[in-house]
Amino acid sequence: MFDTMTMTKTVGAVCGSLLVLMLVGWAGNALYTVGAAGHGEHAEGELTQAYTIDTGEAAAPADGDGGATVDVAALLAAGDAAAGEAVFKKCGSCHKLDGSNGVGPHLNGVVGRNHASVDGFAYSEAMAAKSGEPWTPEAIFAFLENPKKVIPGTKMAFAGLPKPEDRANVIAFLASKP
Ligand code: HEC
Repeated sequence: MFDTMTMTKTVGAVCGSLLVLMLVGWAGNALYTVGAAGHGEHAEGELTQAYTIDTGEAAAPADGDGGATVDVAALLAAGDAAAGEAVFKKCGSCHKLDGSNGVGPHLNGVVGRNHASVDGFAYSEAMAAKSGEPWTPEAIFAFLENPKKVIPGTKMAFAGLPKPEDRANVIAFLASKP
């Protein structure tokens, strides 16, 4: 009876200890695993993000800013009227070059004339508000990249010409149509 009791206690104690050890070990593992995974993901995430920011954001504004300011004059000077005639096909559904107006005002002579200065064309208020400003090649260049952003409220429903070369070429073409 006594022996059995001792035996039971001993076995119980050993089992209890083992259970505790197991639990501690398991808990430790769990903590360690969570910690390791967390660090791993974190480190990876940081690395990936840092890399993406470096290549994406750093490169684009550098090209855009540096390129745009330096290139506008050079691009306009290099504008190719023949290539611009092909680009103008995108404008031709709304703009004519014979002095008559369509959906948009005629564009012959637009280079150098003031904004919203074609008689008889119903300009938007946004465009009319700029009527004292001349359409310099630079102004047209900026406008054509994204018309609705450059002159908010314009009724020119055209997404824009994202390629600087296209803009420079179409301006060279327009300049050849007095
Ligand atoms: C969907 C029709 C449409 C297309 C396509 C379009 N335009 Fe226009 N454009 C207009 C309208 C309408 C206006 C008048 C905008 C206003 O009053 O706000 C305008 C105004 C302009 C003006 C200002 C003219 C002025 O007298 O002040 C210029 C410059 C111009 N467009 C150039 C272009 C060029 C270049 C293209 C092609 C790359 C083009 N547009 C494509 C409809 C269009």
